[in-house]
Amino acid sequence: MKRYIPVSRVEGRASRQAHADLPEGTYEREMSKEGFFGPAAFFYHRHPPTGWSAFDGPLRPRAFDLNRLEPSPASPWAAVPVLHNAHCRLRYWRLPQSMPSLARNADGDELVFVHAGAARLFCDFGHLALEAGDYLLLPRGTMWRLECTAPVDLLLVEATNGSYTLPEKGLVGNHAIFDPALLDAPRIDERFIAQQHGSQAWRVEVKRRQAVSTITYPFNPLDAVGWHGELAALRINVRDLRPLMSHRYHLPPSAHTTFLADRFVVCTFAPRPFETDPRALKVPFFHNNDDYDEVLFYHAGDFFSRDNIRPGMLTFHPAGFTHGPHPKALARMYEQSKPATDEYAVMIDTRDALDVAEPAQGVEWTGYVDSWKS
Ligand SMILES: [Fe+2]
Repeated sequence: MKRYIPVSRVEGRASRQAHADLPEGTYEREMSKEGFFGPAAFFYHRHPPTGWSAFDGPLRPRAFDLNRLEPSPASPWAAVPVLHNAHCRLRYWRLPQSMPSLARNADGDELVFVHAGAARLFCDFGHLALEAGDYLLLPRGTMWRLECTAPVDLLLVEATNGSYTLPEKGLVGNHAIFDPALLDAPRIDERFIAQQHGSQAWRVEVKRRQAVSTITYPFNPLDAVGWHGELAALRINVRDLRPLMSHRYHLPPSAHTTFLADRFVVCTFAPRPFETDPRALKVPFFHNNDDYDEVLFYHAGDFFSRDNIRPGMLTFHPAGFTHGPHPKALARMYEQSKPATDEYAVMIDTRDALDVAEPAQGVEWTGYVDSWKS
């Protein structure tokens, strides 16, 4: 990290511990560098910082109901673009039937999150069954296809010109949050061998520089009889995550980092107990995410800090304004009615500004900016 100018001050009526011991009747707002890792300031406000009465101009919180998108053709390269920048590309793919061709992403690693349905993956590395809640990591260049056992809804997150890695686990060690032994790779099994036979010609749709080319083979190129190495397609299900928590401190979203790319992170919110210390915050603190654009895809459960958000929706908070709990959630700032959260959500935080793709604008909930008004 950069060598920031050291400052540690307490001014006026303030807490000395972030996210706890807030002065009576105040709302905490965090302003920070490097996501939640760099220097930060914590302000204690008389009013919730999301209490705006009007919001004008191109910057605003946005929400998209991806459930309203029509099923896309059976190629991931025809999936609906949602958000993108030079380093990250998000698509939503409602695939009703099996892919007739193979796909290969030559632009970067692809992270596939299975929101609904079930499918069988056939790829260079073999066969792997997929179900809702699975993350599937496809290294750049992998040839793959899906056979649907039920129509699938998938969030595709491309690390453009980059690779996915695991985050540094620091104090809690390599086996916390999830043990790398839980990462499943495809197998060269009977089902994989069985799909190799046949006289059918196969097309490989290769995406490079966001343009698609096709390579046709008179045989099935997924014909490996074995492989070895340190690189593979990998799967983990969100139910196998064991989130960090502190009973006395609301941990920042970065504690839930699942995968790292060069210019963005992917975090997973999975069920965890609420904090029990009576003076600790039980909801996300207000903050600006000044260095990151922030995207949340809601997978399952009850999204405890947001109102009117259902599974299959995606919210986008560009850097530049404060966001935080909705008024109903804020009323439970210190006391929750349930012992634990029961939400699953995928967060994507990007270092560079994201653009909203036009098709996503067709399913935008334009009233989202007003949803903090009580
Ligand atoms: Fe945030």
